[in-house]
Amino acid sequence: MPSVWRAGAQERCRIRDLSGLQARYLPASASAGLAHHRAEGTGPKEVPCVAGDLVAAGEYWRSRRRFLRQAAQMAGVASMAGMAQGEARARTVGERRFRFLLWNDMHVRDPEAPREYTGYPFANEKAQWAFECAQGRHGIERPDFILAAGDIIDGELADYDLDFAYLKTAIVDRLPVPYLPCVGNHENGQGEGIPQQNVAYDRAFGADRHNYVFTYSGVAFVVVDTSGAHRMPDDVTATRNASVERALSATEGLPVIIVTHVPLIAMREEEPLKASFGFSSWRVLDTRMLDLIEQEADRVIAVLCGHIHLTGVRERKGIYHIMPGGTCGYPSDFASLDVFREHIRVRMHRAPQRWLDRGDDIHGRPRYDHDYTDSEHPGHESYVWGNAQERDFTIPLADEKRPKEYAPCAVSFVPCSAP
Ligand SMILES: [Fe+2]
Repeated sequence: MPSVWRAGAQERCRIRDLSGLQARYLPASASAGLAHHRAEGTGPKEVPCVAGDLVAAGEYWRSRRRFLRQAAQMAGVASMAGMAQGEARARTVGERRFRFLLWNDMHVRDPEAPREYTGYPFANEKAQWAFECAQGRHGIERPDFILAAGDIIDGELADYDLDFAYLKTAIVDRLPVPYLPCVGNHENGQGEGIPQQNVAYDRAFGADRHNYVFTYSGVAFVVVDTSGAHRMPDDVTATRNASVERALSATEGLPVIIVTHVPLIAMREEEPLKASFGFSSWRVLDTRMLDLIEQEADRVIAVLCGHIHLTGVRERKGIYHIMPGGTCGYPSDFASLDVFREHIRVRMHRAPQRWLDRGDDIHGRPRYDHDYTDSEHPGHESYVWGNAQERDFTIPLADEKRPKEYAPCAVSFVPCSAP
């Protein structure tokens, strides 16, 4: 088989053992090379090609420009100086709809609050760095809004108000752009559906900021409180799932991005993940929410989450599950998402080296006597930081996943509360 070939009709291209090299295929529908998928690793991989897709393996993956040039020749785009240039040009001049940052697991804490434990060292400093990035500093372009996927405060103290007050004074109230919060378990002590444990969060952001929906430039965002992710199906998870059903109904016809603190799927190989994370909430245990979302996989673009304190992305049934490590520990990063009509560029941004300390890693030493890995992340650094394609990648948008035209570039809340 040549290193670059064109897929046949109804073909699921099986990329054979590449001896550690990577492979990619370029969908025929991606006229400017805007969309691509990857398969990598040493074992056989299967990618769902359709007739006309260009597939590359081996040496061609090592040189993206070389692959795209070869692909351009095969596609008969001889006049272009290479599809790589075409792609760059398209990204440069293509109309970006909007840009937002995904923050999670900052664990900001009031430095004056009484504590019995030390929390994450330099968590406030790293949060301050992220705040400055949101202002357009440190080489990061200013976003249109911030999505906060939970555990933004450290909490775990009797008076949660102190951490919320510090968070608002130091960061939220000074942001130049809207801030959209999602509840994490550190905001309420795993207290989803327990009113007395949510008093401080509600006072900070409002009781209507648990399960809510907003749109921005033709994309719907469904924010879901999963702070009780450890719960097996019960009244609380039924209420959660009913709100997701209403939200999906209220946003019918729109592309959707889900925001949750706790992931809906295992973000690493399941058994190592359960062991390295060490808590029951390695994903949302009631899977009804995942089922509801996957029933709408034609228009659900992604699930954005946090909680696990490692950086990963997984694709399941065409939905991207995206989880930055959060800024508080090791790894330490947040994500930016640039939304175009035909794709979303996702990038992880690493905190400054001076605040990175392996001692903050909850998936290896010193918490355990060894460092965890899995088959897709054979080294511990990649296990916690993610592989290269988990830190900078593109989500193709087609058909129902494309942002709707002529939609306003402003946060617009969609009413869908319980009747
Ligand atoms: Fe956390």
